[in-house]
Amino acid sequence: MRFDDHVAVVTGAAKGIGAATAALFAKEGARVALLDADPDGAATATDLDGDHLFVRCDVSDGATIESAFETVREAFGGIDLLVNNAGIQRYGTVTQTSEALWDEVMNVNLKSAFLCAKQALPSMVERGRGVVVNVASVQSFITQANVAAYTTSKTALLGLTRSIAVDYAPNVRSVAVCPGTVDTPMLRWAVNESPDPDEVMREVNEMHPVKRIATAEEVASLIGYLCSADAAFITGQAYRIDGGLGLSIGGSKRD
Ligand SMILES: NC(=O)c1ccc[n+]([C@@H]2O[C@H](COP(=O)([O-])OP(=O)(O)OC[C@H]3O[C@@H](n4cnc5c(N)ncnc54)[C@H](O)[C@@H]3O)[C@@H](O)[C@H]2O)c1
Repeated sequence: MRFDDHVAVVTGAAKGIGAATAALFAKEGARVALLDADPDGAATATDLDGDHLFVRCDVSDGATIESAFETVREAFGGIDLLVNNAGIQRYGTVTQTSEALWDEVMNVNLKSAFLCAKQALPSMVERGRGVVVNVASVQSFITQANVAAYTTSKTALLGLTRSIAVDYAPNVRSVAVCPGTVDTPMLRWAVNESPDPDEVMREVNEMHPVKRIATAEEVASLIGYLCSADAAFITGQAYRIDGGLGLSIGGSKRD
């Protein structure tokens, strides 16, 4: 039980990577607070082992975050682990992206991580231990077409990760987890935007050198490792979990 006596907060925990991470923490002994704007998070929470709490919270809104963390502190006494996972995918080049869409993506994907860390860090400092995990993306390193706001938000999360690592060492660590394609409701939504979702799924599987996409549980497993005592010497770094996506030079063939 790697997380006995730990309190974990996971944002975007109603489904996908966040739900898998909350389940892993709960299974390994943590008390878990699931934050999500989607009320379905309450049902996700009831399936978990151990002590847990669902708080409906739009993580793009500072006042709502403040009150959600107050609820968590009242229920569990403090916070040891924070996974900033909530995120949205939106499409557009710079000229296609409206100011409102840019702000929406930055607020949900980036500002939320800053605001949630601001709430959790004092408790971690007081308890003398803590880990902040920012769920970024392979798009923190490489990009696809038409995702100007998304890729910018995910790249900036690496800067926030380094900043927290430097400012809150030695007792608090911060890491970024950067998935390739993961089979979650977000991916299924994106694929269904295309006229031929089956063909897109075939292409997506094919573009990873390991010839498949990840499960949410595989990403949760990396988050669990990085939050554990086994990773005590790791801070400020970004870890890709991407099946080799983006490694190969386009056009080269084996035969
Ligand atoms: N699925 C992928 O292929 C993939 C790849 C790389 C990175 N990621 C990142 O992983 C994270 C999780 O993605 P996922 O695929 O599990 O997504 P998902 O859409 O399946 O789940 C995201 C969760 O975040 C919640 N959420 C969205 N906006 C919110 C807000 N304003 N306040 C609170 N909760 C909010 C949603 O309700 C949902 O429960 C995201 O940050 C995403 O960018 C996903």
